[in-house]
Amino acid sequence: MNYRHAFHAGNFADLVKHAVLLDLLARLQAEGPALTVVDTHAGRGLYDLAGVEARKSGEAEAGIQRLMTAADMPAAFAPLTAAVRRLNGGGSVRRYPGSPWLVSEALRPADSYLGCELRPEEHAALREALRGRRGVRTLCADGYKAAVAQTPTQGVALVLIDPPFERADDYVRIVETLAAVRRRNRRAAALVWLPLKDLETFDSFLRDLEDEVDAPLLAGETRMRPLTDPLKMNGCALVAMGAPEGLGAVLESVSRWTAETLGEGGAARLFDLRK
Ligand SMILES: C[S@@+](CC[C@H](N)C(=O)[O-])C[C@H]1O[C@@H](n2cnc3c(N)ncnc32)[C@H](O)[C@@H]1O
Repeated sequence: MNYRHAFHAGNFADLVKHAVLLDLLARLQAEGPALTVVDTHAGRGLYDLAGVEARKSGEAEAGIQRLMTAADMPAAFAPLTAAVRRLNGGGSVRRYPGSPWLVSEALRPADSYLGCELRPEEHAALREALRGRRGVRTLCADGYKAAVAQTPTQGVALVLIDPPFERADDYVRIVETLAAVRRRNRRAAALVWLPLKDLETFDSFLRDLEDEVDAPLLAGETRMRPLTDPLKMNGCALVAMGAPEGLGAVLESVSRWTAETLGEGGAARLFDLRK
């Protein structure tokens, strides 16, 4: 396991994922007074954009720093830019929030958050970043297993799956986890992040999901460039299971702006696989 999110925090893929996550959280919170969130791959929670990793990759510079000064930013990004401004005290953007920080900030008194992180040093940083927050727990454990064991059997729940895709079995494990979570709680929603490299991998993942998961699915692609070189990360995709009405428009809006503004010949596509 070599993946370190510090190199990628605040990049185009984080912008799409986190803008859609915040919108989805608000929609699920509107469905009831208590929401349980399980974050299977939490990372360290907060990222230093002035650190060696972020400066070396330049990904935040091409991502969040451009979004924060964009004149044509769609409204769907407003909750994310507000959160980033709050984290940085309104000044220049030196820190970027991960999913654990964004979710924790949005929790209401009866809501709860469980963040799973397998790497001990990342988990230690995560615990520190979330110290003292009410309704928040972390586990240094495999997030796929934890999602199935810890999703409540009733009530409104959200599982966020955001793996590093270092292992060949991530696609299979996502399908198995979503199917098991849905069997456990029919009201459970999920948001999955995936890299886009070639056409075939994402399409066959969607077909497997449709076959195995008994739930409405919504998928959005953010293609940053034509998919001609399968060795590059040419974009990203999000798949939502059990998404509330209205999420599709937000997914399309953030994907389109990101692909067209931050990409090179980029484009966005939305698939509504509701049954
Ligand atoms: C892409 S990062 C997560 C970023 C985070 N979701 C966010 O939006 O801020 C993926 C993280 O998953 C961790 N990881 C890898 N395999 C895991 C597993 N099976 N269970 C839990 N965490 C895992 C990695 O160490 C890495 O920190």
